[in-house]
Amino acid sequence: MNPKYRKTVIGGNWKMNLLPSEVKGYAESIKKYPLDTPNLEIIIAVPFIMLPEAINAFHATPVHIAAQNVSEHAFGAYTGEVSATQLADLGIDRVIVGHSERRAYFRETNAIINKKIHASLKCGLDPILCVGESKDVREMGSADDLISFQVKSALHGISHEELRRITIAYEPVWAIGTGNVATPIQAEAMCARIRSVVADMFGAALADTVTIIYGGSMDGENASELLSLPNIDGGLIGKASLTPDSFFRIIQAAKDTL
Ligand code: PGA
Repeated sequence: MNPKYRKTVIGGNWKMNLLPSEVKGYAESIKKYPLDTPNLEIIIAVPFIMLPEAINAFHATPVHIAAQNVSEHAFGAYTGEVSATQLADLGIDRVIVGHSERRAYFRETNAIINKKIHASLKCGLDPILCVGESKDVREMGSADDLISFQVKSALHGISHEELRRITIAYEPVWAIGTGNVATPIQAEAMCARIRSVVADMFGAALADTVTIIYGGSMDGENASELLSLPNIDGGLIGKASLTPDSFFRIIQAAKDTL
């Protein structure tokens, strides 16, 4: 359970799932649930081509529509890329940066992720920065060091004011899409660790206000326990966000902690 001075964030990450023609139906279904809750931010990150439809469909709901990626470049000859300015012009105000699938399959380095964070902030997009270690790294006992490095690199050159706009998602790669959710002890320990890295960079008082969330096989069954932990301020949810009912179960679990 996060203290009142931190915002709780529940984010759905559709990844490359669902169809543009399904966005409206999803929105109609989830709108039937009570979504409006003080101090709870609900985000749904959809593929680029669904952004305009999602903005329309979720209009007049508290749901923020997010992009799942953004270019590190401002504009120019980057075929297939989408800039932060273009997203902002569409009315988007949230973006996932550095998801482990982008790090692994699209070779996004920590340096690129840092550029994407800066590009997003500059254009009014609030980033959800993802960090996480692979199974091998955890088994080698190097998870803490790797996560510290990912956090420090991504936040390099960020001002105190900008930090207030960043949500950090701890998503162990071995837990994503596998059904192997991190244990509450593992998830809480790493989220606390992330907070201490942020404290080293920006001071403990500011670090204490940063929203740090967990992602990796979170669902309606395990959400309550994870969300009740002191350093876990929400969740980033892939599979269980693909149907309105299962996503709302997690939203409800978050509401119950507030
Ligand atoms: P998952 O995905 O909930 O399907 O494990 C989480 C994520 O990758 O954000």
